[in-house]
Amino acid sequence: MHRIALLPCDGIGPEVVAEGLKVLAVAADKYNIKYETIPYDVGAERYLRTGETLPDSVMDELAACDAIYLGAVGHPDVQPGILEHGILLKLRFDFDQYVNLRPVKLYPGVETPLAGKGPEDIDFVVVRENTECLYCGVGGTLKKGTPDEVATQTAIYTRKGVERIIRYAFDLCVKRNDRLNLTLVDKANVLTFGHDLWRRTFAEVATEYPNVTTDCHFVDACCMWFVKNPDWYDTIVTCNMFGDIITDLGAMIQGGMGVAASGNINPEGVSMFEPIHGSAPKHAGLGKASPVAAVAAVQMMLEQLGETAAAGAVDRAIQAALATGDIPVTTGPEGSTQQTGDKIAALVE
Ligand code: IPM
Ligand code: MN
Repeated sequence: MHRIALLPCDGIGPEVVAEGLKVLAVAADKYNIKYETIPYDVGAERYLRTGETLPDSVMDELAACDAIYLGAVGHPDVQPGILEHGILLKLRFDFDQYVNLRPVKLYPGVETPLAGKGPEDIDFVVVRENTECLYCGVGGTLKKGTPDEVATQTAIYTRKGVERIIRYAFDLCVKRNDRLNLTLVDKANVLTFGHDLWRRTFAEVATEYPNVTTDCHFVDACCMWFVKNPDWYDTIVTCNMFGDIITDLGAMIQGGMGVAASGNINPEGVSMFEPIHGSAPKHAGLGKASPVAAVAAVQMMLEQLGETAAAGAVDRAIQAALATGDIPVTTGPEGSTQQTGDKIAALVE
């Protein structure tokens, strides 16, 4: 019995999560998976009502779940940063979800803005470190609001943190397919302390994987190659900040935010799955947002829960639906969110 915590949260979150759950229900039925969902009232509304983001009582209950399925956070009435830190980053950090797994895959039937590129060119995965770097919240200000203001924001990298994410990426690369290529994306020419640690650790761990070829790309050049030669990439490992940035570019080349999913994984703990997109308040409640990313997040969740057959079936259903060419992948007409969910659900075999 899998216990799945639901945090639909804000904006379009609830409506895309509903479609993910629709597909999950069909897959569970076909593959005999027993699960229960436990919904949590978390997000902007609760914050505006009570001032709470993720109270300890909720965190304790989430710790006892097998997975967390999250919609999106962000609300126009809430100052930016509060929900991001109070919900999303708190979950990632407190549950030590040190892997942020972000597949960049162009499904057949989905249009990429890259001229002349197709599904055979765009199929890689970004392994983003998820607990360190500029996201650690270390820094401060001095003389705030004065002309002499000083601000610091420190990136922290630990040997343990860097080594475990690199090791995860090598293992994934070996499992993924027979391309066996791992690229470290960094800025070692400028971040001569932090990314020197990454380079040395990468080289050391690489000796344990003699079958995997490796590359090191600077992040700026990597952005250029995502556009020019996306076929060069198989598996990428990178720090938290660069992983955040390059995966938005990755989402665009795979057809848009409406198809990009991610898993925040603690291989020994509670993992969280979410579409990469935000809460898109202007589309909320209209049934216009594509639920494909939210459904793909369900697929990743099934994979992590060990339900690989069902995960494969959901993947094939997504692909079959998209191959028809009439699935809106960013936004569609009103009601298309539910129709897309229905179409994918009907194709789960
Ligand atoms: C993401 C988002 C978050 C991040 C924000 C909302 C804190 O952009 O999941 O990529 O920066 O990690
Ligand atoms: Mn981001």
